[in-house]
Amino acid sequence: MQEDIAHWERIASDWIRWVRTPGHDAFWAYRPAFEALIGAGTGPALEIGAGEGRIARVLGSLGYAVTLVEPVRAFLTAAQDSDSGVRYIQAPAHAIPLPDASMPLVVLYNMLMDVDALAPAMAEAVRLLTPGGRLIIGIIHPLADLLTTHRDTGSWTAGGRYFDDRAFENALVRDGLAMHFRGRARPLAAYTEALIGAGGTLQRLVEPEPAADDPWTQNSPWQGLPLFLWIEASKA
Ligand SMILES: C[S@@+](CC[C@H](N)C(=O)[O-])C[C@H]1O[C@@H](n2cnc3c(N)ncnc32)[C@H](O)[C@@H]1O
Repeated sequence: MQEDIAHWERIASDWIRWVRTPGHDAFWAYRPAFEALIGAGTGPALEIGAGEGRIARVLGSLGYAVTLVEPVRAFLTAAQDSDSGVRYIQAPAHAIPLPDASMPLVVLYNMLMDVDALAPAMAEAVRLLTPGGRLIIGIIHPLADLLTTHRDTGSWTAGGRYFDDRAFENALVRDGLAMHFRGRARPLAAYTEALIGAGGTLQRLVEPEPAADDPWTQNSPWQGLPLFLWIEASKA
């Protein structure tokens, strides 16, 4: 099995606890901005690397009929048990058994940093997108990869080299919950070049701010720094 997928197999139960503990993961503070970006709609949507299904459930609440693609069986089972979408497919991002140009909305949320081979995953997302459809990619902001934040003081320090595609490992315990992140930190151009190389067209970049009234945001250094970067793209 590919090492990127094997890693998530190993830490699946930690991730489910991490994202399902109310207010623990950063996403919940960014959910209003994410909903505003996607907007209410109908029809099919695809989430690739869907994990236990939280993003698919948000897409479903906006009106979309979501197909979840995820290689880790434990995640698909958790997603299905939580009624996260309308269809569940166990597959890696580079080989999804769906027809070309079949999805008007394709979402890859915080998963491309976890994929070792970026180009094949991007090519598959663009292949599945309908002409005129929307491809939404969420990543950790490439500059945020250089920052170490200190929640107790709300401060941060920066270091490291930006320009390389480099491996990261970050095993941590926060508020009693363990999580081991592993993946690739890449410069922004690695994503835009992979997108354009796959036949996609960049539409816009969004640097979302966390909801000011969310408890996660209070005293967070990320009130004033970009933690995430969202890329919207299309295909001619
Ligand atoms: C940080 S989690 C994000 C899950 C979900 N998108 C969310 O935001 O809750 C990263 C996900 O990427 C998946 N993943 C890792 N490597 C993958 C690959 N090669 N193909 C497809 N998914 C992969 C993992 O199994 C995991 O579900």
